[in-house]
Amino acid sequence: MLSEKMQSVLNKQIRIEAESSQIYLAMASWAELQGLEGVSQFMYAQSDEERMHMLKLFKYINERGGHAQVSELNAPPLEFGSIKEMFETLFKHEVFVSGTINELVHIALEEKDYATHNFLQWYVAEQIEEEAQARTILDKINLIGNDKGGLYLFDSDIKQLTVVSSVAPPA
Ligand code: FEO
Repeated sequence: MLSEKMQSVLNKQIRIEAESSQIYLAMASWAELQGLEGVSQFMYAQSDEERMHMLKLFKYINERGGHAQVSELNAPPLEFGSIKEMFETLFKHEVFVSGTINELVHIALEEKDYATHNFLQWYVAEQIEEEAQARTILDKINLIGNDKGGLYLFDSDIKQLTVVSSVAPPA
């Protein structure tokens, strides 16, 4: 059984993951309008991935006798400036999410909730993966600079980059 506090902070995380999904969906739309088909495809997949993160928490809360809640979400931005700025925003957002996961791990230990602590390890591993991926992409974008041909190749390359996590997907 989840403590009230654990349940409440896990529900807050549901909202964060759902908002992440919306942010990446907005990025997919923006990239699509810029004609960046590969980047857009990547962002649609990223958005789906965040929904999966959200659902995994959702199921876990209900499984442990809690009540998973659907809450209102903040609207994401519509414009992202440049492709570089967009991926910088994505990277910063993932660093923020990693911080919120770390905080959950800390609370699980405080609450002596070892099941939730164990459950959260999947997210800890996932965040390492997501931050590393965002950093790799940003390095590439920095290499390209203002080279239009480079951007074209990058957009085509990123299609191959399927979002694979180092750990098994949720059951
Ligand atoms: Fe679910 Fe990208 O953090």
